Amino acid sequence: MPRHFLKLTDFGRDELLGILELARDLKARQARGEPHRLLEGKTLAMLFEKSSTRTRVSFEVGMFQLGGHALFLSPRDTQIGRGEPVRDTARVLSRYVDAIMVRTYGQDVLEELARWSSVPVINGLTDLLHPCQVMADLLTVGERRGSLDGLRVAWIGDGNNMAHSWINAARVLGFGLRLACPEGYDPDGGVLAAARDADVEVGRDPEWAARGAHVVTTDVWASMGQEEEQEARRRAFAGYTVDARIMAAADPSAVFLHCLPAHRGEEVTEEVLEGPRSAVWDEAENRLHVQKAILVHLVRGEG
Ligand code: CP
Ligand code: NVA
Repeated sequence: MPRHFLKLTDFGRDELLGILELARDLKARQARGEPHRLLEGKTLAMLFEKSSTRTRVSFEVGMFQLGGHALFLSPRDTQIGRGEPVRDTARVLSRYVDAIMVRTYGQDVLEELARWSSVPVINGLTDLLHPCQVMADLLTVGERRGSLDGLRVAWIGDGNNMAHSWINAARVLGFGLRLACPEGYDPDGGVLAAARDADVEVGRDPEWAARGAHVVTTDVWASMGQEEEQEARRRAFAGYTVDARIMAAADPSAVFLHCLPAHRGEEVTEEVLEGPRSAVWDEAENRLHVQKAILVHLVRGEG
């Protein structure tokens, strides 16, 4: 059975911290211009059923820097879009490539692919989770704070895939997480129930969530696949914009994170996104370094 990267709770604390350490090392080697062709001759298949800028480019560039190769596959021009079963796709791709990254709708599709794949499968975002992004976020927080010890994180907005991966990270790594979500947009009940022993709380008030936090983070109000709900969500999320007032409630050292793409004037103001406490560009860069570490960890079994 290959090791997959489907959700953060499949990993222990030491393993996740080991991947972050490897990411820091690979980032330093990259900065020194030092070759680190740890996946020479290896190929990654990247299956995208939803749009992407960061995930696609960072995985593709990452494989190149590691001495390997990445293939972009979309349903528009593969048999997947014409209904070839996931389990057949998984078995065929496994005969050609050394790892598969998938961005799709259902977590069940990802899990089915992993069940039938004989090479590692990586979650590049589902409706339920976005674990690679939260690993990049944790790398960024570690760089800014020096460590993750005693960390307090505030999530403001939709109880979506990003929120779920933050909850999972809080469970595994043991940091404090407060989520402020409008009524009707709480995180998934199953994800929350599994975190009942973790330091995770859900409320309605964004200032309550932000109070004393070292990280304030948010995401779009309508995720991919929810475009038709855009207007209703805009109304429901009034008062949940991360602005200077919410940032003022946080710890003086707090950073602002956003996985991007951002909708300025909705979930975050221009002032906060472009302000001195925003770490969003480092966060986007760190997708590259953390995913190289995930690939090396899974494909070579190192961490
Ligand atoms: N944050 C993120 O996953 O961005 P993309 O949708 O551009 O990949
Ligand atoms: N929650 C967003 C994240 C995009 C990277 C979405 O699923 O569209």
